Amino acid sequence: MSDWFFNSATIEERAKAHNDRWLREEGDVIPLTVADPDFHVAPEIKRAIINAVLNDDFGYTMADTSLEEKCAEKISQVNGFPAKTEDIHLTNGVLPGVSIAVRHACQEGDEVIVNDPMYYPFTMLSELHNTKPVKWDLQYEEGYRFDTERLKEIVTPKTKLIYVCNPHNPTGRVTTKEELKGVADVAVDNNITVMSDELWEDVVFDDRKHVSIASLNPEIERLTMTQYGFSKAYNVAGLRLGYLCVTDEETMKSAKKQAFGGIMIPTNLAKAAGHVMIGDEMEWWHRGLKAHLHKIRGIFEEWFEGMPRISSPKLEGTYLMFPKFDYDMTSEKMEEYLVEKAKVRLEHGTIFGELGEGHQRILIATSEEIVNEALERMEKALNEL
Ligand SMILES: Cc1ncc(COP(=O)(O)O)c(C=O)c1O
Repeated sequence: MSDWFFNSATIEERAKAHNDRWLREEGDVIPLTVADPDFHVAPEIKRAIINAVLNDDFGYTMADTSLEEKCAEKISQVNGFPAKTEDIHLTNGVLPGVSIAVRHACQEGDEVIVNDPMYYPFTMLSELHNTKPVKWDLQYEEGYRFDTERLKEIVTPKTKLIYVCNPHNPTGRVTTKEELKGVADVAVDNNITVMSDELWEDVVFDDRKHVSIASLNPEIERLTMTQYGFSKAYNVAGLRLGYLCVTDEETMKSAKKQAFGGIMIPTNLAKAAGHVMIGDEMEWWHRGLKAHLHKIRGIFEEWFEGMPRISSPKLEGTYLMFPKFDYDMTSEKMEEYLVEKAKVRLEHGTIFGELGEGHQRILIATSEEIVNEALERMEKALNEL
């Protein structure tokens, strides 16, 4: 039954969908771009929102902290560090929490460490707040592992924030506990705040276990602002719901101040859905999502085997692949070529940093039918090169 939720999308139906990826394209281009799946939304989520509407739930509800309480319980039980209701600040998605962290930790001119390649809004937010993004390279040849020695080299007295994205967009890497320990030691030794974006915590492959950096020890917990969310695992990016966890009291006071006026609480409709998504009744959804994504990853892996000029590390987390295309073409030109010749749009790697040159980011959260059609079209176009 769950197959219908994840595997029933067709090009004809999606072309009419109210969805950014598809709305942006003209003609019959298949967009494997923005991380916004071609899945249905779970009935439990829809029902919670409908009930909130029927109950006239449109007033102020700041005094009701029951969702914050559930988020804290989940963090204590699943993420492995003790959180209380007052350690949670609900956010309109995940990016607002990143913004709060820069505003809390940095003054104009301070340095913020971001990866290259990295989900580019991190870098943009750092620039927007007049701080200087400093690139911490992740090398394809090293399997994109976090190299702590390289991190130590770029830390200066002006470094006030380190962004950790785990699981990592766009590389699809799940950071190991040892790597996180390395980052934590550097942060603690230099008293640097860590913004840990763990939006993708539920989308991990094989038997991997997601590790929250704040769970490693009390010293790093004190310095970490962890942002969790629902957009990716539940296909509800448009609901705009996430939650920031900060267990250091003074930091939370400052974060709430930074949020006031601009980054206010989410709507009651999003909060109603939040109660369902944070609860334990969605196990079936996670099982179905995992099974489907493993199947789609397998289809891509088989395709890569037949395409000797494309290589990709095994996807560990997220539903975004970041393979290397070894053709005599920049990644930007390759994106254009595939749109024109194959009518498939991928995202060229340099959007995510200089080290993304040669790579394309590919969304795999769609149906087998759409994936098979996209791969067939790309193979034909690439074989003409
Ligand atoms: C790592 C990461 N952080 C944040 C976001 C944005 O999340 P939201 O839409 O919940 O703000 C994304 C979206 O793809 C992402 O991949």
